[in-house]
Amino acid sequence: MSKKLIAGNWKMNGSLAANEALVRAMLAGIGQPLAEVALCAPAPYLAQLQALLLGSPIAWGSQDVSAHEQGAYTGEISVSMLKDFGCRYAIVGHSERRQYHGETDEIVATKAQRALSAGVTPIVCVGETLAEREANETESVVKRQLAAVIHTVGHCITEIVVAYEPVWAIGTGKTATPEMAQAVHAVLRAQLAAATTNPKRVHILYGGSMNAANAASLLAQPDIDGGLIGGASLKAADFLQIVAAAG
Ligand code: 13P
Repeated sequence: MSKKLIAGNWKMNGSLAANEALVRAMLAGIGQPLAEVALCAPAPYLAQLQALLLGSPIAWGSQDVSAHEQGAYTGEISVSMLKDFGCRYAIVGHSERRQYHGETDEIVATKAQRALSAGVTPIVCVGETLAEREANETESVVKRQLAAVIHTVGHCITEIVVAYEPVWAIGTGKTATPEMAQAVHAVLRAQLAAATTNPKRVHILYGGSMNAANAASLLAQPDIDGGLIGGASLKAADFLQIVAAAG
């Protein structure tokens, strides 16, 4: 495995002034990170991130991308638009989009393929709800979600990033224990191994209440290759501590 990847997901937070202060504080403290680092911002702020982060050790990306190439899809944002603003990553299939915007496994897989077609790395989110975990369905749910992407992108699967985000751990302060997370990451790694000869090439991130205090123990697990960070990516000091823990 190459370097770990720590990606912030700001979700629907920020303003021009707040983003600038946050990014400048991150740049002031980041030095030469041993991990790869990225920030995924709301689309209106991608131009701002491009201006602030170009030439820095921090890459940037979007939180979604259209499954379509272009055309009559009001409100959608195409991958070529993301490329115009220098995005390296696009989160796809976040549970909040699956839950509130009806994104199916097939839509998520098509979005991942669309991103790949333009050289943007999709960060594909998978994860079970609390009800699914309690029904012992965690493994079958995450495998079904990843299988759709493997089916659609074929040999390009080594170019994606996977993020395991248990829905019950997102924004709740309830983190999966390192052992619980590792168990699911191992399942995902095995599934990738069946699809490619180079499964270790794929970063599998953990997301869900990862913070400065718990990052090191999660990142020490053999199949946890980084983090997708929500709330703690809105605080420069916390985010930088997570980056340092990934070194
Ligand atoms: P929190 O870190 O706020 O729990 O969010 C995780 C997440 O959903 C990142 O995509």
